[in-house]
Amino acid sequence: MSGTSFTVQPGGQLNGRLRVPGDKSISHRAIMFAAIAQGTTCITGFLESEDCLATLRAFNAMGLQHTQRDGAWVVEGMGMHGLQAPTAPLDLGNSGTSMRLLSGLMVGQAFDSVLTGDASLSRRPMNRVIDPLTQMGAQIAGQAGGRAPLSITGGVALTAIDYTPPVASAQIKSCVLLAGLYANGVTRVHEPGISRDHTERMLGAFGVEIERDGRSLALAGGQALQAADIAVPADLSSAAFFLVGAAITPGSDLWLEEVGINATRRGVIDVLVSMGADIELHNERDQAGEPVADIRIRGSALQGVDIGASEVELAIDECPAIFVAAACAEGTTRVTGAAELRVKECDRIAVMAEGLTALGIECTEVEDGLTIVGQGAGAVFDGGEIASHEDHRIAMSFAMAGLRANSPIRIDDCDYVDTSFPGFVELAAQAGLSIQAQGVS
Ligand code: S3P
Repeated sequence: MSGTSFTVQPGGQLNGRLRVPGDKSISHRAIMFAAIAQGTTCITGFLESEDCLATLRAFNAMGLQHTQRDGAWVVEGMGMHGLQAPTAPLDLGNSGTSMRLLSGLMVGQAFDSVLTGDASLSRRPMNRVIDPLTQMGAQIAGQAGGRAPLSITGGVALTAIDYTPPVASAQIKSCVLLAGLYANGVTRVHEPGISRDHTERMLGAFGVEIERDGRSLALAGGQALQAADIAVPADLSSAAFFLVGAAITPGSDLWLEEVGINATRRGVIDVLVSMGADIELHNERDQAGEPVADIRIRGSALQGVDIGASEVELAIDECPAIFVAAACAEGTTRVTGAAELRVKECDRIAVMAEGLTALGIECTEVEDGLTIVGQGAGAVFDGGEIASHEDHRIAMSFAMAGLRANSPIRIDDCDYVDTSFPGFVELAAQAGLSIQAQGVS
């Protein structure tokens, strides 16, 4: 993918009511669990983004059948041992979640498989899943340095392990738990910090018994999943761009509907509130095992804050957007404990520092974070050119900077926005951002 750029004209406000698309993490898991369940799963609100479609296509290549009915995705479960050998490598595109979770499932199958991805995914660390899976007895091999493609030998017996991942990561945790479903014995994962808990919640909804004790999880191998209906909430990670856009713009008054506010994910709300953002949660409710709310946000003056590891854990994907808010705050924001940002779709610390600097913001990179000197009131950003480094969240974060810029901002390589947020340009324009996409994908 390449070719599309965004141009954002300065000024504007964000107003009205909108619903951002479905949650990416939950959509991936819905397809994966539906595929290995007994029975028919109905998924509403599924995110039709490139990443989630990569997961879906991988399962289609292993025989999964699905139809669409009245806006819902209806998936025919194949059971724990019903997947069929794919005839080609499974191409997971840009999606780290697909590759890391699928590796846990694939080691439990009777057949061999190869997991591949695009250039960005092929640079990301996979030893974090290869190591625990190997400890379970799996045969899984990456390229030099533990990179994709990953070659997995099927038909190998797995043994449960007690595992403490080196970093708090829902992808590692989920990978080990999914392999644990196919292992002999009880698999335990002890998390070194908080990571999103969608896997545990959804496995529970599919009838799997999973014990939680603080940050430890235990699951016995050999359990079968039973189909369950899943209603995917709007993605807080996508809502985050709009939260920041509205927060930094005096006069904005925006409602975001039916957004997932899972406690393991809601850090962006709490960080923005600590900066002085005017955020209200309305109609808090449970939707198929996940908490959701309608969020109202109005523009207000923000202050710089210190953001440490415990806040970063709960807002890992929202950090690029938070950095844009920090540039608009009065005073300095210091972010630490964020080294994981360096191994996302790009090195998000270096790339955000590069982009903020290009727009005239003073910032200093440290190994595990970024210090940003907030500019306070008025037009904060110079216009200019931003290299998104083919990272969707970088592109959308800098698009929102246009609301507080003194001249146009142009962002390159924006096709990747479709990996998580198809329709971003249209929705942002509807809310009041002067954004245009140019070029062909
Ligand atoms: C995800 C987990 C997070 C997050 C990613 C989605 C998931 O990664 O950054 O976008 O769906 O499990 P880590 O678990 O590696 O932190």
